Amino acid sequence: MQKNYRNKAFNPIKSTEVAGLEETIMGERDIIVSRMLSEFPYLSSPIQVVDAALDLAELHSTDVLTDLGCGDGSVLLRAAERYGVFSVGFELDCRLINIARRRVREAGLNHMVNLIQADLFRVDLSRFKVIYVYPFPSIVKGLTIKLLNECLRGTRILVHDHPLEGLEPLKSKSIPSGKQHLHTVYLYVL
Ligand SMILES: C[S@@+](CC[C@H](N)C(=O)[O-])C[C@H]1O[C@@H](n2cnc3c(N)ncnc32)[C@H](O)[C@@H]1O
Repeated sequence: MQKNYRNKAFNPIKSTEVAGLEETIMGERDIIVSRMLSEFPYLSSPIQVVDAALDLAELHSTDVLTDLGCGDGSVLLRAAERYGVFSVGFELDCRLINIARRRVREAGLNHMVNLIQADLFRVDLSRFKVIYVYPFPSIVKGLTIKLLNECLRGTRILVHDHPLEGLEPLKSKSIPSGKQHLHTVYLYVL
């Protein structure tokens, strides 16, 4: 696949800027998709997979992380607790975003984690330095195109289990879980 990402300097998002973002970016279609999603079983990244991914990205406290489809917010909470990294989570499912908001509030990390109910395909990705995603296989192709079109040079992209199409990861790591499944995280650097 052709690499057509932009070659611009980073203008990273700051927590003060994010605080002004709408907490919900939803249209009628999103609400329907959100209801459909809520009928799928929810799969979260096991903590050992999250740790392996965040270690692969060599997170720095000045990075701003996003989890595209952040579910219950586990990845964001871990990034804040372990690395002191500010993050923004986007999630379409209203039940999950509410759970994530409650968890962040209870952890006293409202100042470190911003949660927005939104379709990840409507989000401008150009301001994030580190992107985590555990995608449904059905969105991998569209997601790959979006990432290549919007992300700036140097963006680190962490993908759990379903690798991006046509791109070579810089690194990958496999992590056995308690069950039979072997999780793999891929690091791409644009
Ligand atoms: C496999 S789960 C991963 C959750 C979390 N990132 C983790 O790793 O634990 C995928 C999540 O993406 C959400 N999702 C799927 N499509 C989405 C979309 N278009 N926009 C936002 N969230 C989406 C789902 O509701 C679900 O919570």
